Amino acid sequence: IPPPPLYYAPFPTGHQSALVTKNESWKFPHGFYWGVASAAYQVEGAAQAEGRGPSIWDVFTHRATYLTLTNDTGDVGDNHYYLYKQDIARIAALGVPAYSISISWSRIFPYGRGQVNELALAHYDDVINTCIQYGVKPLVTLYHWDLPLYLQNLYGGWLSEEIVDDFAAYATVIFQRYGNKVSHWFTINEPIVFCSEYPLPEGYFADVTIPQKHQQYYCGHHAILAHAKAYHIAKSLGIKGTVAFKNNGGYKIPLTNSSEDALATQRAWDFNEGWFSNPVYVDGDYPSTFKTWASSIGLEFTQQEKSMINGTADIYAHDAYTSSFYYAPEVGVSACVSDPTNTLYPGCFNSSNIGPTGWLIGAASDQYSTWLQSATDWVPAFLHYIQETWPSGGIVVSEFGFSEPYEELRTSLADIVIDPIRSMYYRDYMQAILIAISEGVNVVGCIAWAIMDNLEWSSGYNTRFGLQYVNYTSFERSYKASFFEYVNAFKVYAEDP
Ligand code: NOJ
Repeated sequence: IPPPPLYYAPFPTGHQSALVTKNESWKFPHGFYWGVASAAYQVEGAAQAEGRGPSIWDVFTHRATYLTLTNDTGDVGDNHYYLYKQDIARIAALGVPAYSISISWSRIFPYGRGQVNELALAHYDDVINTCIQYGVKPLVTLYHWDLPLYLQNLYGGWLSEEIVDDFAAYATVIFQRYGNKVSHWFTINEPIVFCSEYPLPEGYFADVTIPQKHQQYYCGHHAILAHAKAYHIAKSLGIKGTVAFKNNGGYKIPLTNSSEDALATQRAWDFNEGWFSNPVYVDGDYPSTFKTWASSIGLEFTQQEKSMINGTADIYAHDAYTSSFYYAPEVGVSACVSDPTNTLYPGCFNSSNIGPTGWLIGAASDQYSTWLQSATDWVPAFLHYIQETWPSGGIVVSEFGFSEPYEELRTSLADIVIDPIRSMYYRDYMQAILIAISEGVNVVGCIAWAIMDNLEWSSGYNTRFGLQYVNYTSFERSYKASFFEYVNAFKVYAEDP
C-alpha cells in the first residue's frame, strides 16, 4: 500500500471551486428534493433478526473466496436495523429533508414468496414513521440487490421469468402498506450492476441452462419486465408518489473525434443506460444495437410486453458518479458487431477512466484535481443528454458520491472528519446541477450516497462513501466536513421563499 498522500492541504492545487462565490442566477427550483441514501444490506446488519430470511448476498459474503480483500459481511453492518432512530435524528438535525432507504425483500418474505413476515413490516413501519415524525421524507427502493436466497435456489433468481410475479407480489405488499407515506419510489436499483457485475464473478448462476456469458442479459430482460409490472401495480393501487427505476453509469465521452470512437461511444450508451432506459422511456424496446445482440441470444420483447413496458416511469432516476472516455476496440467495429459470439465486448466499445482508475484508490494526490474537475465538469452535459435522450417528468440524481482515497488509513477522528476531496466533489457537483438547472434541464432532486460509511459490496467496509464516519468497533457516527458542504449548498442556493 502506498503511503497516504498529504490530505491536509485544503484543496489540491490547480482546482478552483466555483461555489466559493455565489452565482446569483443559480437557484434550486420550487419543490426540489434532496437527501441522503442507504441500502438495506449495506447498513442494516441484524442478519438473523426478526425472521429475516437469507439473501444471495449472505451467501456471497460468507464465501471465503468472494470478499478476498476484507472478508467483510453484512451480518452486523452499521447496526442500522437497531440504530435507525438515531440515524434519522442525526440527519434531521442537519436539516436533511429526505432519506432514501431500501427495503429488504428477504425480511418481508423470508422465502421470497408466500408468508409475509409481520415483524419485518412492523420494523419498516417504524423506520418510515420515524422519518415522517422528524420531517424527513422517506424515499423507498424495493430491490437493492439482496434477493431472497430461496428464489435463487428455486429457479435461478433473475435468470427466470418467474421472478416477475414474485417481485410483483412483494411490490404489492409494500405499495399497499406505504403507498400514502412515500413520495418517491424506486423499483430496482442499478439493474446493470446486479445483473452484470454481481454475482457473476463467482459463477453463482452457473448451474442453470443459460450459458453464463448470456446470463446478465436474461437477468436484465426480467428486471425490465419486473419493473414495468411493479409500475402498473403502483398505478392500479392509486399510489400518489412517483415511480421509476434507478439506472446508473457515467457520462460517456468519445476519446478522440474519430467516427469509430463516436460510434463506440454510442454503443456504450446503448449497452449501458440504453439497455434499460430505451424500453422504459422511448418505445418499449431495446436500442437498435443492443436489440440485434439480444435477439441473437433469444431475448426479444413481444408486442404485448413492449406496450406493457413503454412509459413505465414518472421521472428519470440516475446514479451518476463520474465520467469516462470511450473508444473503439482494436478488433474493429464491423467484426465485433457481426460476431455474436464475441461476448467479451458484445457492445464493441472500450472505456478508460478519466484520470485515476476506480474510486481513486491508489491515486497520487496531484491527480485528484484533474479527475474531480472532469467528473463534475461533465455533469451538466450529462443531465442535458439524459433529458434529451430519455424524456421524462424530471431527472433525479438518485445517487452521487465519493470514496475519499486513503480514508481508511487515517487513525485519528480529527483527520477523518476533515475530508477535503469529498467536500470538493460535493461542492462542485452541486454547482454542476445548478448550472444544468439554469440551462433549462428539469432536475427535480438529488440524493447523496451515502448517509454514512457502509459495506461497499465486494470492496467491504474500507471503501467509505459516507457523509458520516462509522467507527466499526463502537458504531459511533461522526459527521464529516463534506456533509456540511452538501447541506450548505441548499442554504446558499435555496429556492425563493
Ligand atoms: C451505487 C449502489 O447503488 C450502491 O449500493 C453503492 O454503494 C454505490 N453505488 C457506491 O458504489
